[in-house]
Order: sequence, then C-alpha cells, then structure tokens
Amino acid sequence: MKNERKNKQDLMMDRRRFLRLAGAAAAGGTAAAVAPSWARGAGKREPFAHGSGRSGRGFWRRISREFLLDPRTTYMNIGTTGSMPRHVIANYDRYNKLVARDPWDMGGEWGPWPYMSELVARIAPQMGADNHEIILTRNTTDGMCSVLEGLNLQPGDEVLYTHHEHVAGTSPLHVLQQRFGVILTKVEIPVLDATEQGYVDAFANAVSPATRLIMFSHITYKTGARLPAKRICQEVAIPNGIPTLIDGAHAIGMIDLDFHELDCDFYAGSGHKWQCGPGATGILYVRDNLARLRDFWSDRPDVFWPINSSLAEYPFFGLQLQLQYVGNDNYPAKRALADACDMWDEIGRDRIESYVLSLSAYCKELIRDTFGSSAVIYSPDAPELSSGLTAFNPFDDRGDAALLKEFRDRLREEYGFIVRTTDFHVTLDGPEEHAVRISTHLFHDERDVEGVVAAMYSLFTDMMS
Ligand SMILES: Cc1ncc(COP(=O)(O)O)c(C=O)c1O
Repeated sequence: MKNERKNKQDLMMDRRRFLRLAGAAAAGGTAAAVAPSWARGAGKREPFAHGSGRSGRGFWRRISREFLLDPRTTYMNIGTTGSMPRHVIANYDRYNKLVARDPWDMGGEWGPWPYMSELVARIAPQMGADNHEIILTRNTTDGMCSVLEGLNLQPGDEVLYTHHEHVAGTSPLHVLQQRFGVILTKVEIPVLDATEQGYVDAFANAVSPATRLIMFSHITYKTGARLPAKRICQEVAIPNGIPTLIDGAHAIGMIDLDFHELDCDFYAGSGHKWQCGPGATGILYVRDNLARLRDFWSDRPDVFWPINSSLAEYPFFGLQLQLQYVGNDNYPAKRALADACDMWDEIGRDRIESYVLSLSAYCKELIRDTFGSSAVIYSPDAPELSSGLTAFNPFDDRGDAALLKEFRDRLREEYGFIVRTTDFHVTLDGPEEHAVRISTHLFHDERDVEGVVAAMYSLFTDMMS
C-alpha cells in the first residue's frame, strides 16, 4: 500500500484543523454571530423545540438531534434526497389531519390561494425574490420541464448546456430537439482544473447568433462543482440578451441564495433535498422580467406559455398564479416545506452554507491526507467553487463502474455509511469516469467526516489486498 493508515494523533491534528475551519466559518457572516431566536427558546411560527445555546459544536449537535435519521447508519446522500426535521414531520402530520377532517380547511372561502400566497410570502424573502416570482413546485424536474416546455423555442434556436447536466434538464431538452428542431450545444466545462474564469469562458466561447437559452446546474450533481452563476448571467447571458435557466437542485437549502443578485431568469430547485422539506416539493423562481425577454425575442409574439398549468389560457391571472395552479395540490406538503424553510432562516442560511462548506473542505483535506495523491478528487477546492458534495475515486482504474459500486455497497453494508456514485466524462471526448459522492450537511459533524474517510480507507485497503 502506498499510504499508511492514519494514527490517532494524526486524526486529532485533523480535528483541530477542522475546528479552526469551522470556527472561521461561524465567525464569517455577521448574521452568523447572532443566536437564532429559537435557540434562545423564543420560537417563531410552527417552532421546533430547542434549548438555549450559542454557535459551535454544541449548537450543530443540537441541530442534528432535530433529525430522525437512523443512528445505526450515517446518511450521506442528501444530494439524492434529504430528511425532514422532527417538527416538520409533526406539522406535516397535523396539516394532513386537518385536511382529512375538513378537506376545505386548506383554502377557506376563496380556495387555496390566500393560503398558498402566505406560504410564498414566507419563502420568497429568504431567497432574494419578490413573492410573485416564487412558485411551489413538485421538485426540480417539475420546474425545469415547466420552463423548457413553456419557452417559445423554434426550429434552429440553439440552447447551450453543459456536459455535466442532470436528466431533469437534458430530457426535456431532447424533446424540444426532436419535436421542434431546437439545436442543442453541449458546452465542455472545466473539471479537474476548474476556475471561475474557465466556466465563464466556456459559455462565452460557445455563444452564437442562434443562442436563445443558456442552461446550467448551479452545483453539478456529478462532482459537486459550484459554477459562478452570477458571472455567467452578467458577463455572458445578459450582454447577449440570452435568458438563463439554472438547475439549482443542490443549492436550495445548502447555500445562501439571492435570486435577484444572481441575475438569472429562471431557477428550479428541490425542496426535498438540502432544504429537507417533504418529498415531492420544489421551488421555482421566475424573474419578473419577461419584458426584457420580449425585447430579445421580438421576432415572436409570445415568449412563454405556462403549459404545465390549469390556467394556461388566462394570462390576466399573472404568471405566478398560472404556474402555481396545476390542479389540486398537496397543500400540507407545501406548508411543511415553508416550515423547513423557516427553520433554515432562523438558523441563518449564511451560517448553514459556511458550516456545510467547512465540512466538505475537511472531507477533501482528509481524503487527500489519507489516500495520498493516487486518489482523484473531482470536486474543486476553491471555496467559491465548492459545495457540500465531495466526489472522488480512490482506485487506479477510474473507469471501472462495477468496482466502485461494490465499494459503495460494502461501505453501507459493512461500515454503515450511505453515499452514492456518479458517472461522467471529465472532457467531452474523454472516457467515462466514476466517483463516490459524499454529501455533508448541517446534521453532520467532523466525526462523521473522519468516520467516512477512515471507513473508506479501511475498505479500500481490504479490496486492494
Ligand atoms: C442536478 C440535478 N438536477 C435535478 C435533479 C432532480 O431533482 P428532483 O428529484 O427534485 O426533481 C437532481 C436529482 O438528483 C439533480 O442532481
């Protein structure tokens, strides 16, 4: 073996380094220094019970106790789906009982609309949006499909998208290609040598007179790279008058978002992943600037049709209501999502982002120290390009999918750590490679990171012997 297993002293050193990182993160934002109201025992709307406490290890430990995750395992696949906090589940249950008792209770005299607008008014300010720009959807896929099928794309129009997109975006794009003759141009983004400028240049170099839409993941699910969304919008899309659609499946609930500041047109995300809301909940942002799009698309009368809607033919309702009303809804789930969002707001979204990034930075550092240079870490190190996802492959043959799947499955069965694998091409023409993807979130701590790295190393040495 190239590497010696870490001894206890090394791990303690690593933990001290982690605590420095986490301490710096906690001190980072001004809001982070203030204890949230619920932690001082003063709950807001639908509060979850909590004792007093300040930021630091004890604080995050108390947060972790709000989750019902099976203590026999360590769940590190939030990238696929999250886990609801206790009070969100309790509230969800209560809302369901309310509806079962009186199915009309969710709406009152005017149906569900005043109710839904109250939920939107709770969520929108947390993400830098106006209330009428937020739609509560089923998930990211739902939001992506509503936008892609709603835009008036015609034969010969070009859509730019990256070579690391999820099927939630590429699948509706292929429908547009086959049904309407839309041209799809796959942009190669930098992977192992990622820089902000590299991402911006990749899009800038691909723009053509036919480009009508730029679509990309804010955080790619393949490697966890965070793209410089604001720069891509402001330096490439806006100067060329091109609308932007961002797949934010992994950003909502993980990073502190401000949609207006991002300057994108459409942003689709999940409520059930990093935001830890109920299953089948999502958030879609549609910027109130269709006038700008109309200028750019002056060659066609309609820019956007809310196809996925019961009110598609009634524009006087406004786009928010048109997109929101897709028949009867799961109102208890949407209300429980708003409760999960409130919890994040009370903790501080900037504080959650700092904590999540400090855990993934520690994870990368430990992997590098433990496995040495033979393991490839696909996730960028630069904090501005980082996320709570860490993707790496410890094996020499990074094209061996079966080997990595065995690694993933044994990691769960023998060590209790639940992660997933991803497949991708580093360069467009390169071979397919595979990575183990580890999600670290607000209910984890440095011991979980040390545990998963130690378990992976033990399993790796076993598989190599
Ligand atoms: C980048 C990305 N986009 C979209 C999705 C689909 O998310 P949802 O299940 O919320 O539709 C995923 C799911 O893993 C994803 O990773």
